Amino acid sequence: MATHRIFIAFVTIFCCFCLPHLIEAEQVFVDQSGNGNFTTIQKAIDSVPANNRNWFFINVAAGLYKEKIKIPRDKPFIVLMGAGTSKTRVEWDDHATTEQSPTFATSANNTVVKSLTFVNMYNLPNNGKAKKNITQAAAAMIEGDKCAFYSVGFAGVQDTLWDKNGRHFFHRCTIQGAVDFIFGSGQSI
Ligand SMILES: *[C@@H]1O[C@H](CO)[C@@H](O)[C@H](O)[C@H]1NC(C)=O
Ligand SMILES: *[C@@H]1O[C@H](CO)[C@@H](O)[C@H](O)[C@H]1NC(C)=O
Ligand SMILES: *[C@@H]1O[C@H](CO)[C@@H](O)[C@H](O)[C@H]1NC(C)=O
Repeated sequence: MATHRIFIAFVTIFCCFCLPHLIEAEQVFVDQSGNGNFTTIQKAIDSVPANNRNWFFINVAAGLYKEKIKIPRDKPFIVLMGAGTSKTRVEWDDHATTEQSPTFATSANNTVVKSLTFVNMYNLPNNGKAKKNITQAAAAMIEGDKCAFYSVGFAGVQDTLWDKNGRHFFHRCTIQGAVDFIFGSGQSI
């Protein structure tokens, strides 16, 4: 009986005092129409304090975001949440050096991304403009540890997903490409 009471007391203390602390999280909204806190995803990432220790949710509304995104090493626990793989799309078209080409790059541990698509447009056919030779142009580079991706699209032609380092989890993701389109030293499921 005494053990039972101690257990209930423990659960009560845990639920009242520890749990809210553990699930403490911040969130901001990114919306191109101006109805959120930011109009670009990078500005929302820049607003996350360095050495952040709580989950920080960045909710990204539907839209085509023409920007290149980088999560630095000192901003762990960022959760990027889009409105769906066909609704929230991030496009860029860099190619000069594989290192700097990714449309999305994270060097932070514990990055989580859900329901959006990253595209590197460089090698995609481009409406009558001069035909380019296919070259390295990554849609994403992931080098943080314990990063997870749920319903995320990665689109490109060569070197689409650079799974560079760390342990990563991909669930219901689409990785599109034609040449070396998944590469790197990551340990991924
Ligand atoms: C973000 O916007 C919401 C309402 O749109 C507001 O309640 C919240 O305080 C804003 N957050 C920041 C960090 O500015
Ligand atoms: C990220 O995680 C790895 C392995 O768990 C650890 O060695 C490294 O120090 C972490 N990086 C930072 C910036 O905390
Ligand atoms: C594509 O590569 C070929 C062979 O290296 C080269 O001759 C040609 O000039 C390149 N074309 C463009 C548009 O860069």
